[in-house]
Amino acid sequence: MEEKRNKELLLEIKDLSVKTGDKQLLYGVNLNVKEGEVHVIFGPNGSGKSSLVSAIMGLPNYEVVSGDIRFKGKSILGLGLTERARMGIGLAFQHSPVVEGVSVDILLRAIAKDKKIVHEITKETDLKKHLNREVNVGFSGGERKRGELLQLLAQSPQLVMFDEPDSGVDVENMGLIIKIVRKLLQKDLPIMKRKNCGIIVTHSGTILEKIHANIGYVMIGGRIVCSGSPLDIFDQIRTNGFARCAKEARENERFQL
Ligand SMILES: Nc1ncnc2c1ncn2[C@@H]1O[C@H](COP(=O)(O)OP(=O)(O)OP(=O)(O)O)[C@@H](O)[C@H]1O
Ligand SMILES: [Mg+2]
Repeated sequence: MEEKRNKELLLEIKDLSVKTGDKQLLYGVNLNVKEGEVHVIFGPNGSGKSSLVSAIMGLPNYEVVSGDIRFKGKSILGLGLTERARMGIGLAFQHSPVVEGVSVDILLRAIAKDKKIVHEITKETDLKKHLNREVNVGFSGGERKRGELLQLLAQSPQLVMFDEPDSGVDVENMGLIIKIVRKLLQKDLPIMKRKNCGIIVTHSGTILEKIHANIGYVMIGGRIVCSGSPLDIFDQIRTNGFARCAKEARENERFQL
């Protein structure tokens, strides 16, 4: 009989607290993501979701006060953004930066190991006409979202983080976004063959129906206050808002909101 291989733990976040300047953004966050898994983070505006993915990516200004972030069994706290990207961590920004003076083509060629894929992935994201334009300069909201996924396709990271990939995307483009998110998460491979894993931050249910994430969390005030089945959590939020989750968390003495 073929031996079943255990899935490797790719991302381990242990009791992570993060600040920027004098403001504390995250308090004691724990999160473990294995190969092939997709985790979803919900939470009201300003609760710390983007701060968490930014801290994992190693963006400047997110200072780890305590705890650890480990990727493939090693602490990455001492590594900069570029080294983390080279190790296989990628992030599609919620608010993608404009890069004047650098064309999409040049950026993709700098990112992609295999330069031959540039043509194919710009076609896939419907951004062929944007190749010679400066990155995000004058791009529409939807084009910027597709541009973020285009860069991830070029990088092909093993931990793929999407910060609201679906916000402001029209119905037709949503199909395209979902197709690419599925591809980056290897959703069309059999479960045992999937090596990549993902974290998706979203406020909408559309992506959940098509991605089938393993676990969902609600973040409030920089803390993960509950976890469970992503669709179940989403239903609760839709019916009761974040209030019930916050109440449950308050009642649980482990949390001080
Ligand atoms: N560099 C910074 N300087 C000051 N405050 C910051 C900084 N980065 C984040 N914050 C603050 O931290 C809090 C959490 O922000 P974050 O962007 O993580 O929220 P979010 O959960 O992603 O919200 P949204 O759903 O609106 O995207 C907010 O109050 C925000 O203003
Ligand atoms: Mg955010």
